[in-house]
Amino acid sequence: MTDARFRVGLIGARGHVGAELVRLIYGHPSLELAFVSSRQLEGRPLSDLLPEATGASLAIESLGPIDAASREVDAVFLALPNGHAAPYVAAIDAASPRTRIVDLSADHRFSPEWSYGLPERTRAALRSAERIANPGCYATAAELALDPLVPLLARPPSIFGVSGYSGAGTTPSPKNDAEALRDNLMPYALTGHVHEREIAHHLGAAVRFMPHVAPFFRGITLTIDCELTLALDAPELSARYEARYAKEPLVKVTRVAPLVRDAAHKHTVQLGGFTTDGTRAVVVATIDNLLKGAATQALENANLALGLPELAGIPISNSAD
Ligand SMILES: NC(=O)c1ccc[n+]([C@@H]2O[C@H](COP(=O)([O-])OP(=O)(O)OC[C@H]3O[C@@H](n4cnc5c(N)ncnc54)[C@H](OP(=O)(O)O)[C@@H]3O)[C@@H](O)[C@H]2O)c1
Repeated sequence: MTDARFRVGLIGARGHVGAELVRLIYGHPSLELAFVSSRQLEGRPLSDLLPEATGASLAIESLGPIDAASREVDAVFLALPNGHAAPYVAAIDAASPRTRIVDLSADHRFSPEWSYGLPERTRAALRSAERIANPGCYATAAELALDPLVPLLARPPSIFGVSGYSGAGTTPSPKNDAEALRDNLMPYALTGHVHEREIAHHLGAAVRFMPHVAPFFRGITLTIDCELTLALDAPELSARYEARYAKEPLVKVTRVAPLVRDAAHKHTVQLGGFTTDGTRAVVVATIDNLLKGAATQALENANLALGLPELAGIPISNSAD
């Protein structure tokens, strides 16, 4: 990549999200991978994560906070499990405070000092931001699905969510155990899930979120049941979404209910299935949890923070979106 203008590092490259980030950054016209860190893959060539990087000279390293912070880069992506960002942030704050950080974990999503990176809602604050909390996957889809209705909510909407098991990361657990999930649907954290609090915090409206894990690998579908303060018919409901998202390339509004299988490998959130009954309104949202739910959005946020076009390195033309 000869035209690279910004050097970036990635901590947590072995994970599902990290692997997507490696692929997107490697193909980005204005970013260069300066380091890629995973403890388990230390010393392995980059092509272990990205087969098309066969000729790349970069090897995967295992970098602790001090080592990572000593590297001269413009931005660092943290794709670590929740609860592990703090030592990296502290080391970067001390050694190179102007280095942008995009944290994909939940660790800074409630911190007022950090910018919440949901461009469709917080774009202005992300330009030139230095500390960005990337939203959760369920939260991204739910916040975009509820945004047009927030002023009309009569009571907290119910969000029935189903995620593919990549949402549970690579650390073995029942939620990513193929045998436990076979022919199955696994409810969990039916009140108080961190994304329930995240959605409510950032929308400024209480919600009821009930997540489940399914046997498919990637993708999320949310069915959201809202009681409104006025009656809308289905065309009025969908028109409200079409108007809100007409200029948002990563939000697709469809009349029919989107299907989770069609969301996989796409960079967009799909909103549709608009159904009403008097003041009751139901909306369906789908998202690829690893892309717009994580890596794609992290790249949008880094692009904005670095002054690049928001969608640089994100191929959204025709079927690739
Ligand atoms: N999966 C999703 O759908 C999704 C969506 C949105 C946001 N997120 C968030 O993104 C983050 C990454 O998710 P993931 O699903 O990719 O997780 P994951 O598959 O479990 O990967 C975690 C990564 O962190 C590294 N790691 C684990 N413990 C570490 C430690 N103590 N110090 C340094 N590195 C450590 C692991 O590699 P080594 O063990 O080799 O170092 C691995 O690369 C999480 O915070 C998650 O909440 C995930």
